[in-house]
Amino acid sequence: MVKIFVVLLLIFEIRHSEAENSSTCSLTSFPADFKFATASSAYQVEGGYLDDGKGRNWWDWFANIYLKANGNNASNSYHKYLDDVNALKDIGVDYYRFSLSWTRILPKGFRYEVNEAGVEYYNNLINALLEAGIEPLVTIFHWDTPYTFSYVGEWANPKIVDYFVDFADLAFELFGDRVKLWATINEPRTFCQDVPNTITEYFFTELPLGIYEYLCGHHVLLAHAKTYRLYESKYQKMQNGKIGIVLNLDENVPYSNSTEDDEAAERANLFDLGWLANPIVYGDYPQDLKNLLANKSAAQNFSSSRLPKFSCLERRILKGTFDLFFLNHYSVNHVTPAPYTNELSWENDRQVTRMENIDLPQSNIGFVLHAPALRSVLKHIKDTYGDPEIFITENGYSSDGNLTDWDRIQFIQDSLEQVRLSMCADGVNVVGYTYWSLLDSFEWNSYYKAKFGLVHVDFDSSNFTRTLRDSAYYYRNLIQTRLINATVG
Ligand code: BGC
Repeated sequence: MVKIFVVLLLIFEIRHSEAENSSTCSLTSFPADFKFATASSAYQVEGGYLDDGKGRNWWDWFANIYLKANGNNASNSYHKYLDDVNALKDIGVDYYRFSLSWTRILPKGFRYEVNEAGVEYYNNLINALLEAGIEPLVTIFHWDTPYTFSYVGEWANPKIVDYFVDFADLAFELFGDRVKLWATINEPRTFCQDVPNTITEYFFTELPLGIYEYLCGHHVLLAHAKTYRLYESKYQKMQNGKIGIVLNLDENVPYSNSTEDDEAAERANLFDLGWLANPIVYGDYPQDLKNLLANKSAAQNFSSSRLPKFSCLERRILKGTFDLFFLNHYSVNHVTPAPYTNELSWENDRQVTRMENIDLPQSNIGFVLHAPALRSVLKHIKDTYGDPEIFITENGYSSDGNLTDWDRIQFIQDSLEQVRLSMCADGVNVVGYTYWSLLDSFEWNSYYKAKFGLVHVDFDSSNFTRTLRDSAYYYRNLIQTRLINATVG
């Protein structure tokens, strides 16, 4: 009897996927098992700066000293998480992606001291989500490195790999009975390259660019891979979850049809994604990247490449460390080669410049808006990384903040049309879409100006009132009906 049932189930599964692949694959609606989500990150929404025993992280330190705004209160989710869960329930998402604040759980970053209040906060949040019928997708690290690590070289220190694995181990132990989808680390390129590059320009002129980015990336990859293996061997069977790393890619389009611009676009993809994706999928840095950096380093009088090497064992550990490919995607770059300068930096190794494209609209913080870029990035991932299952973990639009936000609805519709084209016409295996973000929040160096939220937050009122925007109602109807052009009301 059980056997017959299993066979019937299999037939249904095969039919189902055949239906998706055939000409009946609908471009205007999503299958019932496709997952819709929305997201946040700890530093951007929690606030509760040093409440109940939380330790400081790098952003707490940096924003309070160097920026004109900070996440000390942010969207106050540490105190208002039940309002967040109510909003999520109203919208009816399948998943809520949020991140753990490392120092809320481990105030000094190390496992010897655990902050029970922090553990309780995440237990409460996870339990409230599950009660509301929403699955948690937990990012273990979204850029808020414990401040204590700054004294020991943070992501440039190989020991951070162990500290991260210790933290992740604790997270699985504490929350893994209820969390079935884990992302180890969010967008390493951004915090290993973009942030250091930006702060070097303004504040820390002596930070050794061209060295730091690669050390940071190397340790991120090892931290991720060792965490993946730990989960696989110690928890996965029992907890039955999946795990991956979140990588980001915007489309890189040659500015003209010259060979130089073509090569610039390829180089951009190599540095933007290949650098980090290749080791996770195939076990090592791409050969082109290794060659390029070996040659440059030799010409610059380094005795070895600035790109660190993986040992044979590390390559084995790294290869295939993803159950799903988590992708963040926002925009498009029209690229041409940058003039070479002798300054050391990842940016200069990449040697690509972004050209203005006056034909395309931009968001209020200058993200170029071009929905087909999403399809092209999805196709690139399918073709380059062995047709993985892809969960889009971020895609979003920032505005000045109106509750009536047709522009955001349009953005989501345009993006989802591209997702369907990608699934139906290109056969890309996309299983989920996450709109970034649930709430208006602290948008890093754009402070509170960039409002990405489906839900408006009143930062001027003492209770940080949440109000659903029109886009939240649209997203709700979309999730219910599965129709891209669902109504708003
Ligand atoms: C980050 C988010 C950020 C978003 C919009 C992504 O790179 O993961 O934290 O808010 O982009 O800028």
